[in-house]
Amino acid sequence: MSMADFFNYATLENMRSRPGLKWGISPPGQIPLFIASPDFPIAPEIKQALKDAVDAEDLYYNTDAEAREAMAEKIGRVNGVKATADDVMIIQGVDPSIWLAVRQLCSEGDEVVLTNPMYGPFQRVMKVVNTRPVLWELDAEEGYRFDPETLKELVTDRTQLIFVCNPHNPTGRVMTEGELKAIADVAVDYGIHVMVDELWEDVVFDGRKHVTLASLNPEIEGLTVTSWGFSKTFGVAGLKLGYLCTTNQEMMRGMKGHASNIQRGSSNLSKAVAPMMLDSTLDWWRKGLMEHLHRIRGICEKRIDDISGVTLQKLEGTYVPFPRFDYGMSSRELRDYLSNEAGIGMSVGISYGSKGEGHLRMCVATSEAIITEVFDRMEAALEKLD
Ligand SMILES: Cc1ncc(COP(=O)(O)O)c(C=O)c1O
Repeated sequence: MSMADFFNYATLENMRSRPGLKWGISPPGQIPLFIASPDFPIAPEIKQALKDAVDAEDLYYNTDAEAREAMAEKIGRVNGVKATADDVMIIQGVDPSIWLAVRQLCSEGDEVVLTNPMYGPFQRVMKVVNTRPVLWELDAEEGYRFDPETLKELVTDRTQLIFVCNPHNPTGRVMTEGELKAIADVAVDYGIHVMVDELWEDVVFDGRKHVTLASLNPEIEGLTVTSWGFSKTFGVAGLKLGYLCTTNQEMMRGMKGHASNIQRGSSNLSKAVAPMMLDSTLDWWRKGLMEHLHRIRGICEKRIDDISGVTLQKLEGTYVPFPRFDYGMSSRELRDYLSNEAGIGMSVGISYGSKGEGHLRMCVATSEAIITEVFDRMEAALEKLD
């Protein structure tokens, strides 16, 4: 298969037989864009390694030491944080790290800063120990800038934790080093812990450099837990594999305590393929993915530019643009209208917080042919509203 064959693989016909919570649950004729899951095949190396692990009957009780070694090596090389395998915990995707952070670091009534809008699980996790969400508002009009002065005003003596998602879902921002330094300064000055979700670290455009908050200085490293995974880069959410890292031993001991017996890492098969998703084996995939997504982003920008009622913040990272639709409809009404009238399934902006009202989020990690069909359908349906 050539590179184009991988990333332009999806057609409406061949996606029909794809199982899972995307095409597998969508009615015939519907194009699902509501879940951040790419329409690419699985990289051949990953498939082969999984088959090899089955052939080796690697289904016994087994250690996760080798995978954690590979993760610690990658965290040093890519993220600039010197970590050992003991500083790493394997988790079933990135979401459990959000739960573990709030469980470990907060008590009832404590305040947790999160952005509005933000990926849903950051909001829902507030119930774990009845913490109070404090919203750091991001404005599309200001390019979704992370304003440190606003953050400072939100901090009180009850603030225990700041949630950071970088690259940011759903705004598509990649935080600048300056923005990250400002967060680090606030956290260090006030002694607040930070949980950073860097699941989208590979998906950054225009030569931007993804910077890991914990790498900025030893003080912020000691206050931070960071998590990563594989589901966005390689389309393998079903492996249920992620990893978190903190060099703060007390924090790690506490999280291991909360996780013990409930959160038993991931499967042997997932751990067997982890090293090759962390070393340079799949650099060709990362490169091909970004070249393809760059073309897809260009199509999205051009097509949205042609629709007068829709505006889009330029994506700096991620493949989930978050356009705003000015048709006098709520994001739920719009989602339903475009689903019924155009057969395109998007996720409602309001589920990312009140700042998402009027927006829909769409996963555009698909073929150029499908994304073109999406905009043909969207344009025709929206014209009827003019
Ligand atoms: C920012 C962010 N964090 C976490 C997740 C969930 O990741 P995982 O499948 O690794 O649990 C997603 C999925 O879209 C996401 O966008």
